[in-house]
Amino acid sequence: MHRTHTCGELRGDHAGQSVILSGWVQRTRDLGGMTFVDVRDRYGLTQLAFNMDSDETLCLQARKLGREFVIKATGVVKIRESKNNQIPTGDIEIDVKSLEVLNASKTPPFTIEDDTDGGDDLRMQYRYLDLRRKPVQKNLMLRHRLSIETRKYLDAVEFIEVETPYLIKSTPEGARDFVVPSRMNPGQFYALPQSPQTFKQLLMVSGYDRYYQIVKCFRDEDLRADRQPEFTQIDCEMAFVEQEDVLQTFEDLVRHLFKAVLDVKIEAFPRMTYDEAMARYGSDKPDVRFGMEFIDFGSVAQGQGFGVFDQSECVLGIAVPGCAEYSRKQLDALTDWVKRPQIGAKGLVYCKCNEDGSFKSSVDKFFDANALSQWASHANANAGDLLLLLSGDLHTVRKQLNELRLHMGSALGLRDPKTFKPLWVIDFPLLEWDEESNRFHAMHHPFTSPKPEHFDLIESDPGAVRANAYDMVINGVEIGGGSIRIHDKGIQSRMFDLLGFTPEEAQAQFGFLMNAFQYGAPPHGGLALGFDRLCSLFGGSDSIRDFIAFPKNNSGRDVMIDAPSPIHDEQYQELYLQSTAPTEDQ
Ligand code: AMO
Repeated sequence: MHRTHTCGELRGDHAGQSVILSGWVQRTRDLGGMTFVDVRDRYGLTQLAFNMDSDETLCLQARKLGREFVIKATGVVKIRESKNNQIPTGDIEIDVKSLEVLNASKTPPFTIEDDTDGGDDLRMQYRYLDLRRKPVQKNLMLRHRLSIETRKYLDAVEFIEVETPYLIKSTPEGARDFVVPSRMNPGQFYALPQSPQTFKQLLMVSGYDRYYQIVKCFRDEDLRADRQPEFTQIDCEMAFVEQEDVLQTFEDLVRHLFKAVLDVKIEAFPRMTYDEAMARYGSDKPDVRFGMEFIDFGSVAQGQGFGVFDQSECVLGIAVPGCAEYSRKQLDALTDWVKRPQIGAKGLVYCKCNEDGSFKSSVDKFFDANALSQWASHANANAGDLLLLLSGDLHTVRKQLNELRLHMGSALGLRDPKTFKPLWVIDFPLLEWDEESNRFHAMHHPFTSPKPEHFDLIESDPGAVRANAYDMVINGVEIGGGSIRIHDKGIQSRMFDLLGFTPEEAQAQFGFLMNAFQYGAPPHGGLALGFDRLCSLFGGSDSIRDFIAFPKNNSGRDVMIDAPSPIHDEQYQELYLQSTAPTEDQ
């Protein structure tokens, strides 16, 4: 027998029991007469005690244990003389009678403790060791809990989990495909799914009116803290529903997850149109944990002789509470911050609304006290507020001011990761103009239905068409997105046409879907929640990597297994591929 208990299990009332524990050596302390060894497994840590007087050989054996040795200890549970109230097993220790080394370990390249000395790269290279650390284990357990609760909830409301294939052909979600060559079909390739979008729609045609799947998706796109090339979605679809049914169902799922996993009650789940979100926050994923909403200063700041404002399409700003006391140095730092290439503003105008009722701005030359007081009353600013204004073209200023607002929110500690403020952003535009290709792209994906009342605008004013498309946003993170779908072959063909597909291309790529639509496709809609993002939100972190057992780095590499890697010449031949990539010595 390797163990009678886990390393996190024993308490004071086990005193006197003979036990066997197995686990990894976290630490050895040699105090002369006594040697203590902390043994760890995923359940916790227990102190093993060795007494020189009672068994010298055993004690010497314990002293030789290295970090991360796998051991098995047999002994008796004893109440400790000095208790450790930092750990659940801190009342007891094991008076060890025999010790067996099950496997020795090399000295690990970093300390396997809550706070480790290992850098990111090293921890990723030895991810199997990093995964032994408690904070990482906690994250994976949270992920497990969330997936169990998701399945429980969706099962209870009649959703069934159906697996869809990974070797498919392209499903456009706006990224590049990962492709897989087919040995049996020379010169032909599968694409890994960017999402199971078309399959879940086919399942609706098949009559499985409530589908879900916790599923891997693959997208070859630039990586960031909240993006991985392979990630997981809670992917869902429903038939015979309207937008309201979908929103209600998944709002309820998310409420359930918060309650069951974090014991947090979500009060409000407001809705905001895309246009409103852009006007109030300059973002389609606003962080509504704090105010500082956008103020349009055009009417009070333009046409007063300040060229920079007068020549701009818009002047937008925010009122930052309690920051009128910012020093010159702090204001210069903020100006430098917005001028960084990542933000790209040309400058920043500020106006301090001082406690004594006076104003001080960076544009005092152009605006007198009276004008500045008009700014303040227009902004509903309080004494002590700092107004920050940016000008330029609307699209760019919204983007920049959104960044500045988030930056100030963080600086003022208004973005508490333990406060959760969800909302739905609805009525997204159906299309967005792409400057590079000089044509419209589907903002969500090509299967999204225009609002029926906007059908007439599709050809005459495509940019104005709104879709029955929605995003779930929590704390400024796009947690999920979905839409009511087109279920009519004619409208779907019109949509492909609008997106620049020739009828032949549309038929070749999506003929299967349009054919299916001719065999009784019900009205349907759904959404997908980004499961990794949900986990990191629940865990209070910005990085989804911490919640993925074996993530990729920012170059899309798995540094532990060293992938991607070259393949053999024979494989090239078998797959009818030619090597064109430069080799290492070229
Ligand atoms: P969408 O493309 O919006 O919709 O994706 C849904 C959600 O998946 C998450 N997500 C990602 N998470 C980590 N890494 C990535 N690279 C990544 N890309 C997306 C986001 C996002 O909100 N088929 C549609 C859904 C539908 O219409 O039903 C789809 O995939 O949280």
